[in-house]
Amino acid sequence: MFARAMHSPDHPIVAQVVPIRRCNLACTYCNEFDAISQPVPLPEMLRRIDLLAALGTTIITVSGGEPMLHPELDEIIRHIRRRGALATLITNGYLLTPERVQRLNRAGLDYLQISIDNVVPDETSKKSLEVLDRKLELLAADADFAVTVNSVLGSPVRNPTDALTIAGGRFLYICEDGLVHYCSQQRGRPGIPLEQYTHDHLKREAARRTAHNPAYQPPLMLKVLTWAFLDGRNRRVLSKLALHVLGARS
Ligand SMILES: C[S@@+](CC[C@H](N)C(=O)[O-])C[C@H]1O[C@@H](n2cnc3c(N)ncnc32)[C@H](O)[C@@H]1O
Ligand code: SF4
Repeated sequence: MFARAMHSPDHPIVAQVVPIRRCNLACTYCNEFDAISQPVPLPEMLRRIDLLAALGTTIITVSGGEPMLHPELDEIIRHIRRRGALATLITNGYLLTPERVQRLNRAGLDYLQISIDNVVPDETSKKSLEVLDRKLELLAADADFAVTVNSVLGSPVRNPTDALTIAGGRFLYICEDGLVHYCSQQRGRPGIPLEQYTHDHLKREAARRTAHNPAYQPPLMLKVLTWAFLDGRNRRVLSKLALHVLGARS
């Protein structure tokens, strides 16, 4: 699935969707949350997933705000799977419980990224190993999905516009208002309502990407990992094997 998207230049590889902007934390480096927003209603989230599926999106990542505050998160994940995309989730992990992990298993989640920035909480981030190590144990014991840890290191990239070369049309960020942006930090570019975003936009972005950097190719290692872990039938078998070799449970 993923490999097919890499070969076809005008299909989004990843789309991030925001089902709720509200968050239970307040990391000082983050500008993607508030303390008051209501969840996006489920029918609207399902409609956005249908639109992304129609564009041929390979991976749909549920982010936020804190996505686990959405009361119908399981149904959102189930619908992503029903529409044939890989379902991934980015969370601060605070709301994970044994029962919640089982519900994510049953919904068919493929992959979870838990964000952990430091060992002990400080004024910048409370996403800390000291708080979240119990959640990691819980995931190791009960999760049927793959898990990775995200950390914000805080170093600025040298060429921020590289994001356009790599991402344009391949990575979509769908904000809580249902608008398409290049990423969370490029709101308003292009800022088109998802229902008006078509294959023509994807083709135009692909052409722009090539014009900006005709030599761009995904790294070989990414292609290999893509084939091994994200392409259809290989994925579950090889992911389980890799986790077994690394001593983790899948
Ligand atoms: C916006 S958060 C939403 C999901 C969830 N609340 C969490 O923290 O995992 C998604 C990811 O973006 C990261 N993030 C937030 N602000 C960032 C920034 N300014 N630069 C880089 N990453 C950032 C978070 O650490 C997290 O891994
Ligand atoms: S937990 Fe996630 S959404 Fe909430 S403030 Fe931190 S990075 Fe932002």
